[in-house]
Amino acid sequence: MISENFGKYKYNEIDKYIELGGFTGLKTAFEKGKQHVIDELKISGLRGRGGAAFPTWQKWKGGLNELEQETFVICNADEGEPATFKDRELLSQDPYKVIEGLTISGYMRSAKTGTIYLREEYTYMKYQLETAIELSRKKGYLGKNILGTGFDFDIRVFSGAGAYVCGEGSALIESMEGKAGKPRLKAPRISSKGYLQRPTQSNNVESLAVAATILKIGASKYAEHGYGESVGTKLISICGNVNKPAVYEIPFGITLRQIIEEVAGGVENNKKVKFLQLGGVSGPLVPASLLDTRYTYEDLWDLDLGIGSGAILVADEDMSVIEYIKLANNFFHHESCGKCIPCREGVHVYKKIIDKLLNKTAKKSDIDYLLEVGTLMNETSFCGLGQTAATPVLKAIKYFKDELYTGTID
Ligand SMILES: Cc1cc2nc3c(=O)[nH]c(=O)nc-3n(C[C@H](O)[C@H](O)[C@H](O)COP(=O)(O)O)c2cc1C
Ligand code: SF4
Repeated sequence: MISENFGKYKYNEIDKYIELGGFTGLKTAFEKGKQHVIDELKISGLRGRGGAAFPTWQKWKGGLNELEQETFVICNADEGEPATFKDRELLSQDPYKVIEGLTISGYMRSAKTGTIYLREEYTYMKYQLETAIELSRKKGYLGKNILGTGFDFDIRVFSGAGAYVCGEGSALIESMEGKAGKPRLKAPRISSKGYLQRPTQSNNVESLAVAATILKIGASKYAEHGYGESVGTKLISICGNVNKPAVYEIPFGITLRQIIEEVAGGVENNKKVKFLQLGGVSGPLVPASLLDTRYTYEDLWDLDLGIGSGAILVADEDMSVIEYIKLANNFFHHESCGKCIPCREGVHVYKKIIDKLLNKTAKKSDIDYLLEVGTLMNETSFCGLGQTAATPVLKAIKYFKDELYTGTID
């Protein structure tokens, strides 16, 4: 479904995309109207694939009433979360589907301009995306009076600022406005005062591609896949100690063990899994004892875990948990924008204590302090970066306490 076009056309082959049924979702949206789009998204159960898992139909419905002023839509292609690379595959292997999804999103918000906010490290794809946009314009799928509907909409590609925090919706907008990429206060929300203080709707690349697919095939067809309330499929990027690291489309509901063994070809050198990290470096560590958990939003939430961006990093039995959390914290130490104290100072405290754990000079009380500071970061940081930066460490304390305590000096 979502990856059905991978490998079937190149970025400059719009006719092939159309032959594959491309732009059918957009036509359906035009023909059946905005309420139909909302209804279909609701049936599909689509949750935002950028990590926060907010129901897409609710986000899009909320924007329907704000039509009196100029509005903007954004495709968040910042994809800065380590171990996450599924949006890169969509952008490079099915760019027209992303363009189609963003155009549907623009139609829903009566926007005239859409922006693909492209991760700085993906600049090599900018020319391909701009070519695909130009060809879409030539064929009447972008520009003035799209397909004779009277709807005017165009897309530009904006190169990201090269900072992880710029994937956060409001920091992204700040950087688009030419300011330092730091998050804004949550009120007013960007849905009512976003880019240039105008209503703005921002969605992840995959969310937009899934929305276009649902409108193409119908929500009930999409809902034939999945498990319980986690309807449909998910693009996952799997990496680490597996034999076949790659992006895969999987139905919700298979277990973590099946993903590793049947999808990703098992653990390298026949070693055992020690832990996974779900959703990128800000996600939880999951011990091997939980491998039979189903990959659904609900099953993972029940265990205080989560799908996040869809990244799955596999660490084998040789991986040191302390070395791993050091790497994870180094990332946040580097990427914290410094705006708020809990995150700015918290990652620094973490760095010092993790170094002590590595040097075997930590006390047991240092681990208590990791818990205390991590909880504070989680509860009081200004944005999602600081709120999740302690997650790998907190889960390491929960699931690998013995390993952390080994070598402490009291
Ligand atoms: C530090 C940080 C980085 C983020 N990076 C991304 C990103 O690269 N891509 C993305 O789609 N969402 C990212 N998000 C989540 C977005 O803020 C937002 O929830 C998402 O783009 C909304 O789209 P969706 O509803 O389609 O998921 C990030 C959030 C935080 C806090
Ligand atoms: S939580 Fe971190 S990244 Fe977010 S605003 Fe505070 S310092 Fe900046």
